[in-house]
Amino acid sequence: MNTRFTGIELGPPIEVFALQKAFVDDTYENKVNLTIGAYRTNEGKPWVLPVVRKVEKSLAADDLQNHEYLPVLGLEAFSEAATSMLLGATSPVIAQGRAFGIQSLSGTGALRVAAEFFSRILHYDTFYYSKPSWENHRLVFTNGGFKNAREYTYWDEKTHNIDLEGMLRDLRDAPKNAVIILHSCAHNPTGCDPTPEQWTKIADVIQEKQLFPLFDSAYQGFASGDLDKDAYAVRMFAERGIEFICTQSFAKNFGLYNERVGNIVFVLADTKEIVQIKSQLTLIIRGMYSNPPNHGARIVATVLRNPELFEEWKDHIRTMSSRIKQMRVGLHHRLLNVGTPGRWDHIIQQIGMFSYTGLTEKQVQHLRDHYHIYMLRSGRINMCGLNENNLDYVANAINETIKLFPEAQNDCTC
Ligand code: LMR
Repeated sequence: MNTRFTGIELGPPIEVFALQKAFVDDTYENKVNLTIGAYRTNEGKPWVLPVVRKVEKSLAADDLQNHEYLPVLGLEAFSEAATSMLLGATSPVIAQGRAFGIQSLSGTGALRVAAEFFSRILHYDTFYYSKPSWENHRLVFTNGGFKNAREYTYWDEKTHNIDLEGMLRDLRDAPKNAVIILHSCAHNPTGCDPTPEQWTKIADVIQEKQLFPLFDSAYQGFASGDLDKDAYAVRMFAERGIEFICTQSFAKNFGLYNERVGNIVFVLADTKEIVQIKSQLTLIIRGMYSNPPNHGARIVATVLRNPELFEEWKDHIRTMSSRIKQMRVGLHHRLLNVGTPGRWDHIIQQIGMFSYTGLTEKQVQHLRDHYHIYMLRSGRINMCGLNENNLDYVANAINETIKLFPEAQNDCTC
């Protein structure tokens, strides 16, 4: 029977979620999930941060809490605290009133609102994202109204490091007002960030060519364990007086994945347009989802604004980032021990949740088919999926796979 819906084409699967489902459906006992970017404990379990649990309990017991609508731009206490966490409590741009934040539906929602704002209000039509990048950047920005999606060089396949010259060349060729999506730290998927000197060169070109930087900040504190260190690039741009937007996610660093907690930070040269900007953001959000949810934002606001809870949370991000570092060392060590062909230094040199292993698509497929080890076809692995119980299994599987399909170049130098 033909209906109105007859003939709708099947859309392609979203790789990371399709793999996640394939993993869940797999009945093999020793299966390993290195796909979706979510933290796991050494027991392979999700971790509700103890400070989050504590605040949730106190909120549940607080009769003054209710389920009234939040304002369209969200919970101010949250946005202010999140903006201050990003830029630093003593940031001159905050003191001068040139920075403000508004709540969003995690990092993705922040990106979408930013894209709508750029395309509808500023009439920007071209954006650049790194090659490779988080696969959703392109979809969010094109759905958000951008006509021209372009990649800038980021990764050098040969050296397995950042191709800075290539990146700067592409940025120099970008048209004025092109929006440049930058990963503020823990680049997803490569785990390779520019050095401070490289960031300076990137900022020089952005300023000189009048491009508009958008920082995607999904891992502040989670990457190095240090909130200030992970905010280096963003703060340096602010100090230089460059206008930008930063989209913050609290999925990873607070473990609040499904609560969709995000913030969009505007850093402006002048305060005089803030009211107008906020009025336009209000219309954009009202037309999309009207107003954001309360629960996660209230947890984050409570933690960031209370010195004791804040210290507790900082301990948690150190716990998570050091477990990842341990897994890097553990995997590196085992790969060398079993004599895996290639160089594996990149495993310990990269930063953040992911490692860009250099494994080829064929090897990735074999690891999945033969060993039930799941990772993205780009060879990206979520380091948090590793633990003391599966490190040997994974290292042996990688070693055997590379020996069977010896085409990979694992000579990363980042
Ligand atoms: C990832 O990169 O795996 C995560 O950020 C989850 C996602 O939405 O892609």
